[in-house]
Amino acid sequence: MEPEKKNDEFEPGAAQFGNFITYYKFNPPENRLAVFEGNFCEYFSSHQPLLCLDVGCNTGDLTKGLYEMLSSGRSAVRMMGVDLDAQLVERANEAISNELESKLQFHTLDFVAKAEERNQLLSRYLETHQSGRKRFDIAFCFSTTMWVHLNHGDAGLESLLASLAAWADNVVIEPQPWKCYRNATRRRRRANLPPFPSFGLLVHRENVVAHIKEVFCNGMDMELQEHLGQSEWQRPVLWYRHKPTTNLAI
Ligand SMILES: C[S@@+](CC[C@H](N)C(=O)[O-])C[C@H]1O[C@@H](n2cnc3c(N)ncnc32)[C@H](O)[C@@H]1O
Repeated sequence: MEPEKKNDEFEPGAAQFGNFITYYKFNPPENRLAVFEGNFCEYFSSHQPLLCLDVGCNTGDLTKGLYEMLSSGRSAVRMMGVDLDAQLVERANEAISNELESKLQFHTLDFVAKAEERNQLLSRYLETHQSGRKRFDIAFCFSTTMWVHLNHGDAGLESLLASLAAWADNVVIEPQPWKCYRNATRRRRRANLPPFPSFGLLVHRENVVAHIKEVFCNGMDMELQEHLGQSEWQRPVLWYRHKPTTNLAI
Protein backbone atom coordinates (compact mmCIF):
# COMPACT_ATOMS: atom_id res chain seq x y z
CA MET A 1 0.00 0.00 0.00
CA GLU A 2 1.13 3.55 -0.50
CA PRO A 3 2.59 4.68 2.83
CA GLU A 4 0.93 7.37 4.90
CA LYS A 5 4.28 8.97 5.58
CA LYS A 6 7.71 7.46 5.24
CA ASN A 7 9.92 10.28 6.45
CA ASP A 8 9.82 14.01 7.07
CA GLU A 9 10.67 14.75 3.49
CA PHE A 10 7.77 12.81 2.07
CA GLU A 11 4.11 13.53 2.54
CA PRO A 12 2.21 12.11 -0.39
CA GLY A 13 -0.65 14.51 0.11
CA ALA A 14 -3.63 14.07 -2.08
CA ALA A 15 -2.43 14.20 -5.68
CA GLN A 16 -5.65 13.49 -7.52
CA PHE A 17 -4.17 11.28 -10.22
CA GLY A 18 -1.30 9.70 -8.29
CA ASN A 19 0.98 12.25 -9.93
CA PHE A 20 3.36 12.46 -6.99
CA ILE A 21 6.41 14.50 -7.88
CA THR A 22 8.72 12.61 -5.50
CA TYR A 23 7.25 9.17 -6.18
CA TYR A 24 10.56 7.38 -6.67
CA LYS A 25 11.88 8.55 -3.33
CA PHE A 26 9.38 6.31 -1.64
CA ASN A 27 8.86 3.63 -4.27
CA PRO A 28 12.20 3.17 -6.05
CA PRO A 29 12.20 1.27 -9.38
CA GLU A 30 14.10 -1.66 -7.81
CA ASN A 31 10.98 -2.58 -5.83
CA ARG A 32 9.23 -3.60 -9.04
CA LEU A 33 12.21 -4.60 -11.18
CA ALA A 34 12.94 -7.36 -8.68
CA VAL A 35 9.92 -9.37 -9.86
CA PHE A 36 11.41 -9.86 -13.34
CA GLU A 37 13.97 -12.40 -12.25
CA GLY A 38 12.50 -15.35 -14.17
CA ASN A 39 12.42 -15.89 -17.91
CA PHE A 40 10.53 -12.69 -18.78
CA CYS A 41 13.38 -11.03 -20.72
CA GLU A 42 14.36 -14.29 -22.34
CA TYR A 43 10.82 -14.72 -23.67
CA PHE A 44 11.19 -11.52 -25.72
CA SER A 45 14.76 -12.06 -26.85
CA SER A 46 13.81 -12.75 -30.48
CA HIS A 47 11.62 -9.64 -30.86
CA GLN A 48 13.53 -7.17 -33.02
CA PRO A 49 12.92 -4.41 -32.33
CA LEU A 50 11.12 -4.88 -29.04
CA LEU A 51 8.52 -2.11 -28.79
CA CYS A 52 7.32 -1.17 -25.32
CA LEU A 53 4.86 1.28 -23.84
CA ASP A 54 4.68 2.41 -20.22
CA VAL A 55 1.35 3.94 -19.19
CA GLY A 56 1.49 6.29 -16.19
CA CYS A 57 5.26 6.71 -16.36
CA ASN A 58 5.56 9.53 -13.80
CA THR A 59 9.16 10.90 -13.96
CA GLY A 60 10.31 7.88 -15.95
CA ASP A 61 12.58 6.21 -13.41
CA LEU A 62 10.86 2.83 -13.61
CA THR A 63 10.44 3.16 -17.39
CA LYS A 64 14.18 3.67 -17.71
CA GLY A 65 14.84 0.72 -15.40
CA LEU A 66 12.61 -1.49 -17.56
CA TYR A 67 14.32 -0.23 -20.70
CA GLU A 68 17.75 -1.07 -19.27
CA MET A 69 16.60 -4.47 -18.07
CA LEU A 70 15.14 -5.39 -21.46
CA SER A 71 18.00 -3.98 -23.51
CA SER A 72 20.73 -5.69 -21.55
CA GLY A 73 22.55 -7.88 -24.05
CA ARG A 74 20.51 -6.64 -27.04
CA SER A 75 20.34 -3.37 -28.93
CA ALA A 76 16.91 -3.00 -30.42
CA VAL A 77 14.54 -1.94 -27.67
CA ARG A 78 12.33 1.10 -28.15
CA MET A 79 10.22 2.40 -25.34
CA MET A 80 7.70 5.17 -24.88
CA GLY A 81 6.38 6.37 -21.54
CA VAL A 82 3.19 8.42 -21.29
CA ASP A 83 1.70 10.30 -18.38
CA LEU A 84 -1.06 12.89 -18.05
CA ASP A 85 1.10 15.23 -15.98
CA ALA A 86 3.19 17.47 -18.25
CA GLN A 87 5.54 18.49 -15.44
CA LEU A 88 6.43 14.88 -14.67
CA VAL A 89 6.96 14.16 -18.35
CA GLU A 90 9.22 17.19 -18.67
CA ARG A 91 11.33 15.85 -15.82
CA ALA A 92 11.41 12.43 -17.43
CA ASN A 93 12.66 13.90 -20.70
CA GLU A 94 15.24 16.07 -18.94
CA ALA A 95 16.73 13.00 -17.29
CA ILE A 96 17.34 11.20 -20.59
CA SER A 97 20.84 11.33 -22.04
CA ASN A 98 21.34 12.27 -25.71
CA GLU A 99 22.41 8.75 -26.40
CA LEU A 100 19.11 7.35 -25.13
CA GLU A 101 16.85 9.94 -26.75
CA SER A 102 16.12 7.96 -29.90
CA LYS A 103 15.31 4.82 -27.92
CA LEU A 104 13.39 6.05 -24.93
CA GLN A 105 10.90 8.89 -25.09
CA PHE A 106 8.21 10.39 -22.93
CA HIS A 107 4.99 12.14 -23.92
CA THR A 108 2.21 13.92 -22.09
CA LEU A 109 -1.00 12.02 -22.64
CA ASP A 110 -4.15 11.25 -20.72
CA PHE A 111 -4.35 7.65 -21.83
CA VAL A 112 -8.01 7.29 -20.88
CA ALA A 113 -9.69 10.64 -21.49
CA LYS A 114 -7.90 11.54 -24.73
CA ALA A 115 -8.64 8.53 -26.91
CA GLU A 116 -8.10 10.24 -30.25
CA GLU A 117 -4.82 11.83 -29.19
CA ARG A 118 -3.72 8.48 -27.76
CA ASN A 119 -4.51 6.57 -30.92
CA GLN A 120 -2.69 9.12 -33.08
CA LEU A 121 0.38 9.20 -30.85
CA LEU A 122 0.68 5.43 -30.59
CA SER A 123 0.04 4.80 -34.31
CA ARG A 124 2.61 7.43 -35.23
CA TYR A 125 5.12 5.87 -32.86
CA LEU A 126 4.65 2.41 -34.37
CA GLU A 127 4.93 3.84 -37.91
CA THR A 128 8.06 5.80 -37.06
CA HIS A 129 9.68 2.68 -35.78
CA GLN A 130 9.03 1.00 -39.09
CA SER A 131 7.76 -2.05 -37.40
CA GLY A 132 4.81 -2.56 -39.69
CA ARG A 133 3.04 -3.60 -36.53
CA LYS A 134 -0.29 -2.52 -35.14
CA ARG A 135 0.59 -3.24 -31.53
CA PHE A 136 3.44 -2.85 -29.09
CA ASP A 137 5.08 -6.02 -27.85
CA ILE A 138 4.56 -5.06 -24.22
CA ALA A 139 2.50 -2.42 -22.41
CA PHE A 140 3.47 -1.86 -18.79
CA CYS A 141 1.03 -0.30 -16.37
CA PHE A 142 2.31 -0.06 -12.82
CA SER A 143 0.32 1.41 -9.94
CA THR A 144 -1.97 3.40 -12.19
CA THR A 145 -5.23 1.41 -12.35
CA MET A 146 -6.51 2.80 -9.04
CA TRP A 147 -6.06 6.41 -10.15
CA VAL A 148 -7.97 5.81 -13.33
CA HIS A 149 -10.64 3.89 -11.42
CA LEU A 150 -11.08 6.62 -8.77
CA ASN A 151 -11.29 9.38 -11.36
CA HIS A 152 -13.18 7.68 -14.18
CA GLY A 153 -15.13 4.93 -12.44
CA ASP A 154 -15.62 1.30 -13.44
CA ALA A 155 -16.14 2.31 -17.07
CA GLY A 156 -12.85 4.23 -17.05
CA LEU A 157 -10.94 1.28 -15.61
CA GLU A 158 -12.45 -1.01 -18.23
CA SER A 159 -11.59 1.47 -20.94
CA LEU A 160 -7.97 1.57 -19.73
CA LEU A 161 -7.79 -2.23 -19.82
CA ALA A 162 -9.39 -2.39 -23.26
CA SER A 163 -6.88 0.14 -24.60
CA LEU A 164 -3.92 -1.70 -23.10
CA ALA A 165 -5.18 -4.92 -24.67
CA ALA A 166 -5.82 -3.21 -28.01
CA TRP A 167 -2.40 -1.62 -28.14
CA ALA A 168 -0.14 -4.43 -26.95
CA ASP A 169 0.37 -8.15 -27.39
CA ASN A 170 1.44 -8.46 -23.75
CA VAL A 171 0.32 -6.41 -20.77
CA VAL A 172 2.24 -6.30 -17.51
CA ILE A 173 0.07 -4.72 -14.88
CA GLU A 174 0.46 -3.94 -11.20
CA PRO A 175 -3.03 -3.09 -9.93
CA GLN A 176 -3.56 -1.54 -6.52
CA PRO A 177 -5.74 -3.67 -4.27
CA TRP A 178 -8.73 -2.18 -2.46
CA LYS A 179 -6.87 -1.19 0.73
CA CYS A 180 -4.90 1.36 -1.34
CA TYR A 181 -8.17 2.98 -2.39
CA ARG A 182 -9.13 3.41 1.24
CA ASN A 183 -5.76 5.02 2.02
CA ALA A 184 -5.96 7.37 -0.94
CA THR A 185 -9.47 8.40 0.04
CA ARG A 186 -8.41 8.99 3.64
CA ARG A 187 -5.49 11.18 2.55
CA ARG A 188 -7.86 13.25 0.48
CA ARG A 189 -10.25 13.68 3.38
CA ARG A 190 -7.42 14.71 5.70
CA ALA A 191 -6.31 17.31 3.18
CA ASN A 192 -9.86 18.70 3.14
CA LEU A 193 -10.21 18.04 -0.55
CA PRO A 194 -13.36 16.82 -2.27
CA PRO A 195 -13.64 13.04 -2.61
CA PHE A 196 -12.55 11.27 -5.77
CA PRO A 197 -15.29 11.73 -8.34
CA SER A 198 -16.08 8.05 -8.73
CA PHE A 199 -15.28 6.54 -5.33
CA GLY A 200 -18.87 6.21 -4.10
CA LEU A 201 -20.08 4.82 -7.41
CA LEU A 202 -17.63 1.98 -7.83
CA VAL A 203 -19.15 -1.45 -8.16
CA HIS A 204 -15.81 -3.23 -8.31
CA ARG A 205 -14.09 -2.72 -4.95
CA GLU A 206 -12.63 -5.55 -2.87
CA ASN A 207 -12.67 -7.66 -6.04
CA VAL A 208 -10.79 -5.18 -8.20
CA VAL A 209 -7.76 -7.41 -8.95
CA ALA A 210 -10.07 -10.32 -9.84
CA HIS A 211 -12.19 -8.01 -11.95
CA ILE A 212 -9.14 -6.92 -13.96
CA LYS A 213 -8.38 -10.57 -14.64
CA GLU A 214 -11.97 -11.20 -15.68
CA VAL A 215 -11.95 -8.24 -18.10
CA PHE A 216 -8.71 -9.36 -19.75
CA CYS A 217 -9.49 -13.06 -19.84
CA ASN A 218 -13.21 -13.02 -20.59
CA GLY A 219 -13.60 -9.72 -22.39
CA MET A 220 -10.32 -9.35 -24.30
CA ASP A 221 -9.47 -12.95 -25.05
CA MET A 222 -6.23 -12.74 -23.14
CA GLU A 223 -4.71 -15.21 -20.73
CA LEU A 224 -2.65 -14.89 -17.61
CA GLN A 225 0.81 -15.89 -18.73
CA GLU A 226 2.44 -15.50 -15.33
CA HIS A 227 1.98 -14.02 -11.91
CA LEU A 228 5.44 -12.45 -11.87
CA GLY A 229 5.43 -11.77 -8.18
CA GLN A 230 4.47 -9.39 -5.49
CA SER A 231 6.01 -5.94 -5.47
CA GLU A 232 7.46 -4.51 -2.28
CA TRP A 233 4.10 -2.91 -1.46
CA GLN A 234 2.31 -6.27 -1.72
CA ARG A 235 0.77 -5.56 -5.08
CA PRO A 236 0.61 -8.37 -7.63
CA VAL A 237 2.54 -7.93 -10.86
CA LEU A 238 0.67 -9.85 -13.54
CA TRP A 239 1.66 -10.67 -17.07
CA TYR A 240 -1.23 -11.12 -19.50
CA ARG A 241 -0.93 -11.88 -23.18
CA HIS A 242 -3.25 -12.34 -26.07
CA LYS A 243 -4.20 -15.85 -26.88
CA PRO A 244 -2.71 -16.71 -30.26
CA THR A 245 -4.68 -15.30 -33.25
CA THR A 246 -6.51 -12.55 -31.31
CA ASN A 247 -6.85 -9.33 -33.31
CA LEU A 248 -8.79 -6.65 -31.46
CA ALA A 249 -10.01 -3.55 -33.25
CA ILE A 250 -8.62 -0.34 -31.77
C1 LIG B 1 1.44 6.25 -8.58
S1 LIG B 1 2.13 6.79 -10.07
C2 LIG B 1 2.93 5.31 -10.70
C3 LIG B 1 4.13 5.64 -11.58
C4 LIG B 1 4.78 4.45 -12.26
N1 LIG B 1 3.90 3.75 -13.15
C5 LIG B 1 5.31 3.51 -11.23
O1 LIG B 1 4.62 2.58 -10.81
O2 LIG B 1 6.48 3.69 -10.85
C6 LIG B 1 0.71 6.87 -11.14
C7 LIG B 1 0.98 7.68 -12.39
O3 LIG B 1 -0.10 7.49 -13.30
C8 LIG B 1 -0.36 8.73 -13.93
N2 LIG B 1 -1.73 8.70 -14.45
C9 LIG B 1 -2.88 8.62 -13.74
N3 LIG B 1 -3.94 8.62 -14.57
C10 LIG B 1 -3.45 8.65 -15.84
C11 LIG B 1 -4.04 8.68 -17.14
N4 LIG B 1 -5.36 8.67 -17.30
N5 LIG B 1 -3.23 8.73 -18.21
C12 LIG B 1 -1.89 8.78 -18.07
N6 LIG B 1 -1.27 8.76 -16.87
C13 LIG B 1 -2.03 8.70 -15.77
C14 LIG B 1 -0.12 9.77 -12.85
O4 LIG B 1 0.11 11.05 -13.35
C15 LIG B 1 1.08 9.15 -12.11
O5 LIG B 1 2.31 9.66 -12.59
